[in-house]
Amino acid sequence: MRVIVADHPLITHKLTYLRDKRTDSPTFRRLAEELVTLLAYEATREVRTEPFAIETPVGPTTGVKLSNPKPLIVPILRAGLGMLEGMVRLLPSAEVGFLGMQRNEETLEAITYANRLPDDLSGRQVYVIDPMLATGGSLAMAIQYLAERGANDITAVTLLSAPEGVAHLEEETSHLSPPVTLVTGAVDEKLNELGYIVPGLGDAGDRLYGVV
Ligand code: PRP
Ligand code: URA
Repeated sequence: MRVIVADHPLITHKLTYLRDKRTDSPTFRRLAEELVTLLAYEATREVRTEPFAIETPVGPTTGVKLSNPKPLIVPILRAGLGMLEGMVRLLPSAEVGFLGMQRNEETLEAITYANRLPDDLSGRQVYVIDPMLATGGSLAMAIQYLAERGANDITAVTLLSAPEGVAHLEEETSHLSPPVTLVTGAVDEKLNELGYIVPGLGDAGDRLYGVV
């Protein structure tokens, strides 16, 4: 797995306010959106393009445009929804599919409760977005699912990751080729006994949308 920690000072600055427990939900949502646009810039460095001939007012030239099929963005509900706007701002022509996953708070195992994805993802370039990579169970399951449907170029984008989750994802995706790419804003210190990232930012879904 390729791991890119996008520790640009602006990302670290925004992450600091996101982490702060005094940050309210509207501000948290705005910061998550801003952060994902910055991370998406890094994550889409290898988005597929093809040559595109145009004429400028001065003369002909060949640039590039996004190839077809367009990339697929998959937010993992619920917290991944908080990253969707920022991601589609950078890739407005991308398609969007949805996976709903929830961690059992005791066993920390993820279950999938919703799936709205194309059946056939053969050869598709996929960006799977979720703010938190904690144990890695949710993202590993999501990536496995996307790969089974044929996706062969998968990039995961997270705001924060735990070292345990990065290691787990690495192990669970080591059979995939090309390797999965992980782009994250920071790799924190550890997981606590409840499976929360330390220092982290708490429960991302609750902070985005209020406790349900
Ligand atoms: C959170 C988070 C990830 C998952 C990470 O979601 O958004 O999806 O936990 O944990 P893991 O790496 O240990 O699997 P949660 O299950 O709390 O659901 P939510 O998005 O509905 O809040
Ligand atoms: N999910 C979250 O929302 N936060 C964590 O720290 C771990 C999992």
